[in-house]
Amino acid sequence: MWNDVYSCDEYYYGTAPNDFLAEHISKLHGRILSLAEGEGRNAVFMAEHGLDVRAVDGSATGLAKANTLAASRKVAIQTEVADLNHYAPAADSIQGVVSIFAHLPSQTRRQLHQRVEQALQPGGIFLLEGYSQAQLPRNTGGPKNPDMLFSLDELLGDFYSSELLLGRELNRKVLEGRGHTGVASVVQLILKKI
Ligand SMILES: C[S@@+](CC[C@H](N)C(=O)[O-])C[C@H]1O[C@@H](n2cnc3c(N)ncnc32)[C@H](O)[C@@H]1O
Repeated sequence: MWNDVYSCDEYYYGTAPNDFLAEHISKLHGRILSLAEGEGRNAVFMAEHGLDVRAVDGSATGLAKANTLAASRKVAIQTEVADLNHYAPAADSIQGVVSIFAHLPSQTRRQLHQRVEQALQPGGIFLLEGYSQAQLPRNTGGPKNPDMLFSLDELLGDFYSSELLLGRELNRKVLEGRGHTGVASVVQLILKKI
């Protein structure tokens, strides 16, 4: 499905970074794993800020566009086509994890979050923005399966050895290409690995 979404020439979520990531970019350093990166807008932005980014997504078409975007901006990113349901980065290997609108079924999401928490080094940052359950009746983006939408409390339960730096549910305007098109209910989360 995602290869079809990304098969057009335009960038479905645009080429500008996600607002929440852009606001908190100074909290990130070193090696960053970007989950469900799609067409590369966030990975390229992070690389432009000197970060060493590995972008993972299930869509080869999306990641091919990510590499094209990186080349056009004269930065380097690493891309990896992989299924996040089974993705397991090496323990203690990264300084940051970025998850922007990475919606998975709740059980696999929880397991992925536990694996990426183990991959973070102490002091490493986990940064997430995604649609909350209050987004369900809106038509401005996001999955229509309630099990794939977030709540802050459920997300906090995914992590065992992290300190909460920022956690909130709010409504905000999300204007990101053709895919995210207006006022939306989102969860924003930043954790620091202990
Ligand atoms: C809503 S898009 C967000 C893309 C990107 N994070 C952004 O905000 O521009 C969701 C992305 O999740 C990816 N995805 C969904 N399920 C996946 C899975 N099981 N493994 C890997 N990627 C997956 C899709 O390919 C798609 O690129």
